Amino acid sequence: MSGSIPLSSPYLDERDEELVLEVLRSGRLSLGPAIDRFEELFAEKVGAPYAAAVSSGTAGLHLLCAIAGLEEGDEVITSPYSFVASANCFIYEGATPVFADVDERTMNLDPAAVEAAITERTKAIVAVDIFGYPCELDPLRELCERHGLVLIQDACEALGAEYKGGRVGSHGVDAVFAFYPNKQLTTGEGGIVATHDEETWRALVSLRNQGRADGGGWLEHARLGYNYRIDDIRAALGTGQLEKLETILALRQAAAARYGELLAGVDGLEAPLADDADHVRSWFVYVVTLARGTDRERVIAELERQGIATSRYLPSIHLQAYMRERYGFSEGLCPVSEDLSQRTLALPFFTAIDAEDQERVAEALAATLAG
Ligand SMILES: Cc1ncc(COP(=O)(O)O)c(C=O)c1O
Repeated sequence: MSGSIPLSSPYLDERDEELVLEVLRSGRLSLGPAIDRFEELFAEKVGAPYAAAVSSGTAGLHLLCAIAGLEEGDEVITSPYSFVASANCFIYEGATPVFADVDERTMNLDPAAVEAAITERTKAIVAVDIFGYPCELDPLRELCERHGLVLIQDACEALGAEYKGGRVGSHGVDAVFAFYPNKQLTTGEGGIVATHDEETWRALVSLRNQGRADGGGWLEHARLGYNYRIDDIRAALGTGQLEKLETILALRQAAAARYGELLAGVDGLEAPLADDADHVRSWFVYVVTLARGTDRERVIAELERQGIATSRYLPSIHLQAYMRERYGFSEGLCPVSEDLSQRTLALPFFTAIDAEDQERVAEALAATLAG
C-alpha cells in the first residue's frame, strides 16, 4: 500500500519563511508593523475598507457579538450545520441560540426558515458560508433591515468566495475569516474581521487589545476588553500566504474540479453543489453526500484501512452534548441539517494535493460504495 493521504495540509513556501524570519530578526514580535501590512493587504483582497486581525476566527465572531450589544435573554438565529464557534460566539454574551434549518442544496441557512424563527427577542443572525459556499446574503440582509437585526457573516471557511459578483467581505456586512492550518490561508492560529464601518473597526481594535483606547497609555483601559491579538509572526505568515492567495484559490479550484471528474460516474454519492451566477465557492473542504442507507462508518473504516483520512463534516450543533444539556435540544429540531450530518463526508483536500492521490481516493471510495 502506498503512503497515507491526510485530510488537510498547509501550503507554505520560502516566502512565508522569509517574512516570518524578518519579524523574528526585527525584534518586534507583537503590536508591530507586520500586523498593519497584513490587515491592509487582506482588506484589499476581500474588498473591504477595514480589517482587524485577531487571535482566531472564534475571537473575531465573539467581538462582533460583543459590539452588537447582545445580552441575556436575546435570541440569535444561526445555522445548526456549522462548526460550534458560530453559535458559541453569542452564547459567551449570554444570548440564546435559535437554530433555523438549512437548505439541502447549499447547506447554508434557508432564509424562509430564518424568517419563521424570528421573535420579538431576536437581536441578530449569524450566517455561515459553510464549506466556502456563500450564504444567501441579500434575503438575510433584507430580513435584518425589516426586523432591526444585526447580521454577522461567519466567513471563516470562505476566503475568496463570491456572492453576486463580489468577494465575501465586500458587501458591507461584517465578516469574519479564520486561518487555522486546514483553511485556504493559514497563520497557524488566527482570524480577521472585515468591516465597512469605521466605528466597528475602532471598537474591534480596542476590544482585541484589552480595551485600550486609541492613543491612550499601555495601562489605560477604556472598556472591558480581551487579549484577542494576533502577533507579528503570524501576521507575517499571513502576508506571505495572501501574496499567493490567487494561486492558492486556483489550485484548490483545480483540485475540486479533478475530484468532480473522478467521482462523476460513481453511484451512491452526491458531489458538492456547483457554482451558479450568484454563488462562487471558495474551496475549503471537499465534502460528498452519501446516498441514504449507506453505512458511512464502513466507508470511513475502509478508507482508513487504505491510509485515506476522512472526516464526518459536520455534526449538527444543536445535538452536541452541551447543547442538549443546556437548552434541551433534541433530534427533529432541524431535520435537513440532521440528515446531512448523517451522510456527509469530507475527503482529503488541500492546496497541493497530488492528482494521483485524488485518483486513489476516488477509486477507493467507488470500490467501497460498490462493495
Ligand atoms: C464555520 C466556522 N466558524 C468559526 C470557526 C472558528 O475559527 P477558529 O478555529 O479560528 O477559532 C471555524 C473554524 O474552524 C469555522 O469553520
